[in-house]
Amino acid sequence: MIKSFSIVSMLLAPLVLSQTFKVEVTRSEAALPEKLLQQSKLNKEFEVAINRFSTYRYTGKFYFGSKASDADLILDTDSDWMLVESQQCDACLPTHRRYNPLTSTTQTPGSNETFILYLDDNFYVGDDYYDTVCVADSSKYCAKDFKFIAVTDINKVTSELAKIDGVVGLGPDDPSNGPSFIAELYNQGVIGKKMFGIQVGFNQKSEMMFGGWDDTWMKTRGENIYFYPQSNQSRWEIELRDLKMKNTSFWEGSKKAVIDSFNDSITFPDAEFQVFKTYIESIDHTIDCDNTKGTCRFNDDCTTKYTKLPQLRIQFGDMNTFAINPKDYLFGQVDGGNRAFCTFLIKKNNKDYVQIGQPFLKNFYAIFDFESGSVGFFLHAYTNSEVNSDGVERVVTPQPPITDDSPSDDKFPIWAIILIVVVLIGGLLALGAVAFIKIRNKRLQQNLSQYNQLEGTKGKAGKTLQ
Ligand SMILES: *[C@@H]1O[C@H](CO)[C@@H](O)[C@H](O)[C@H]1NC(C)=O
Ligand SMILES: *[C@@H]1O[C@H](CO)[C@@H](O)[C@H](O)[C@H]1NC(C)=O
Ligand SMILES: *[C@@H]1O[C@H](CO)[C@@H](O)[C@H](O)[C@H]1NC(C)=O
Ligand SMILES: *[C@@H]1O[C@H](CO)[C@@H](O)[C@H](O)[C@H]1NC(C)=O
Repeated sequence: MIKSFSIVSMLLAPLVLSQTFKVEVTRSEAALPEKLLQQSKLNKEFEVAINRFSTYRYTGKFYFGSKASDADLILDTDSDWMLVESQQCDACLPTHRRYNPLTSTTQTPGSNETFILYLDDNFYVGDDYYDTVCVADSSKYCAKDFKFIAVTDINKVTSELAKIDGVVGLGPDDPSNGPSFIAELYNQGVIGKKMFGIQVGFNQKSEMMFGGWDDTWMKTRGENIYFYPQSNQSRWEIELRDLKMKNTSFWEGSKKAVIDSFNDSITFPDAEFQVFKTYIESIDHTIDCDNTKGTCRFNDDCTTKYTKLPQLRIQFGDMNTFAINPKDYLFGQVDGGNRAFCTFLIKKNNKDYVQIGQPFLKNFYAIFDFESGSVGFFLHAYTNSEVNSDGVERVVTPQPPITDDSPSDDKFPIWAIILIVVVLIGGLLALGAVAFIKIRNKRLQQNLSQYNQLEGTKGKAGKTLQ
C-alpha cells in the first residue's frame, strides 16, 4: 500500500448508483420472549433494520462520538474503512455533515495524515479519528476508540457521492485493510462471533445481523446453507466456476467472484460480457448495448422480456448453481418522452473478477464469517429463485497455496525440484530398463537354445519370442 505517502487509497464500488442501509431498531429483541432474549444475549448477536432509499441505496444508522451524532452509512461488503462526512467539510451538502470531531469529548485524533479514499473516479479526503461508534442504538452496541475517517472534502458535489452521510466498509479483517468495525465489536465483546449476515430486499424488510446470521429468513425450514472459502484474504472473494444461461456458458476463465453489497448489478469482465451479449442477441436481437459503457438495454417494457429470457445461473466452488430470474437482472425505467425501457443489471466491469451485487443478494441471504474465512448463502423467504445441482463438472486444477509475492530466496526453486525429480525418475527407469533388458536377453538366449534344440531353426524361434 502507499501509506508511506500519507495516502491510503481504498477502492469502493462507485457510488453513482449507490445503496444505503439503515440500522435503527433491535426489532427481534423487543419481540422475543424473556428466555430467548437471555439466550440471544449469551450468543451476543443483534439484528438491525436496513432501510432502502431510492431503488438501490440501503443505509444503516450509526452514532458517532459523545454527542451520538447519527449518520446513515452505506453498507459495503467490498470496502474496508468507515467514513463519515464531517462538519468541517465545506464541499459536503449541509444535511450530510453528520459528525463534528471538535465537539466530541470522546474523540482522539489519529495520525496527522491526510487520507484520500478513492470511490471509482471520485474521491473523499479526510482525517482519521478514534471515537465511539455505535450501531442500532445510540449507546448499546458500541465500539469505543474505533478508528475511522472524518471526511473534509469531496471532489464532486454534484454527484451521487455528495448525497450520502458515509460508508461502512464490511470487508475482511485483514492487515492490508482499514479497521474493521465488525472485528472491533467482537474484540470489545459486543458480539460473540466475528461474523455478520445480511438480507437485502426491494419490497420487503431488509435486515443485518451482527455476530451471526438469522435463519428465520430461510425460505423453508432447514434450508441448505452453501458455504464457500474465501480465495483472497483481503476481500470477500470466492471461486467462480461458471456463469450461464441454459446450456450456454459465459465463463471465459475469470476465476473470482467478489460479493459486493454496494453495487446494483452483477458485472462481468470484458471476455464474459462479450459472450453474454452475443448470447442475448441470439435470443432477442432488439438488445441495444453500449460497449464503451458496458451496459445493455431493450427499448421496451421489461415485462415483455420476463418469459423470453432465461435465468442467469452462477456456480461457485461446487456443482450447485444459483439462479437469478430475469425480473431481478432487468430494471424497468421510463425516459423523458415517457417511453419505457429496460436496463440489464448485468454489466461490464474493467476488473479481473465478477462482481456479485444486489440482483444476487436480493435472492440469497449472505453470511460473512471472518473466523473461517468463508461466505455462505441460503435461499431467503422472499425469493422465487432456486439452487440446482446442475453445474458443470470441471477438472479442478489444484490451487497453489496462497503465498506472498515477494521472492523468497530461502526456498528451493520449484523448477529445481522438478528437475531433480525428473532426473531421479529417469535414472531409475534407465536402471530398470538395463536390468530388464539384461534379464530378457538372458531368457531369450535360454529359450532360443531350447527352441534351437527342439526345432533346429534360429529364425523362427526368434520371431515367436519377440
Ligand atoms: C457497479 O460496478 C460497475 C462496474 O465495476 C460500475 O460501472 C457501476 O457504476 C457500479 N454500480 C454501482 C451502483 O456501484
Ligand atoms: C498532530 O498535530 C498536532 C497539532 O497540529 C500536534 O499537537 C500533535 O503532536 C501531532 N501528532 C503527531 C502524531 O504528529
Ligand atoms: C486480493 O484483493 C486485493 C484487494 O483487496 C487485491 O488488491 C489483490 O490484487 C487481490 N489478490 C489477488 C491475487 O487477486
Ligand atoms: C443441456 O445439456 C444437457 C446435458 O449436457 C442435456 O441433457 C440437455 O438436453 C441440454 N438442454 C438444452 C436445452 O440444450
